[in-house]
Amino acid sequence: MEINKEFYIELEKFINELKDKKNDVKILNFVLEKLDIIPIEVQKFIADKTGLLEISIENTINFYPKFRNKVSGKKIKEVSICVGMTCGLYGKEFYEELAKILEIDEDGISKDGNMLLTTKRCFGRCNKGPNISIDGEIYSMMTMSELKIRLGLK
Ligand code: FES
Repeated sequence: MEINKEFYIELEKFINELKDKKNDVKILNFVLEKLDIIPIEVQKFIADKTGLLEISIENTINFYPKFRNKVSGKKIKEVSICVGMTCGLYGKEFYEELAKILEIDEDGISKDGNMLLTTKRCFGRCNKGPNISIDGEIYSMMTMSELKIRLGLK
């Protein structure tokens, strides 16, 4: 990602105007607002301008899902399971098993931060359930073992 000079000027100005220059949450919110992503080079820039350690910025990012999902270069896998009327019986089982294996938090993010697990009410393919979407592609007539293979859990 090409980040223009103006962004860095604005970011530096924002940091300099902060009462607490080490308030990385505020700084990361600013970055997200402007770029909708938090590139590694911007994290380094923040560390340089604030005196914060890069690892501490990284820890803040990993703590907040809204930041965690926006680190550029890191692609989070989005898995959505249909728990609607027709798919629901299997769907709920799949969801519970995956949530347990991946140690999903209340925001639907796996413990390793690599997967977002959500549910859907219907994909409009009720006669082909269970239906699961992985990164926007819908897979029908899924089994738990096929799902695990597709997600690299087996
Ligand atoms: S209920 Fe699952 S696709 Fe409709």
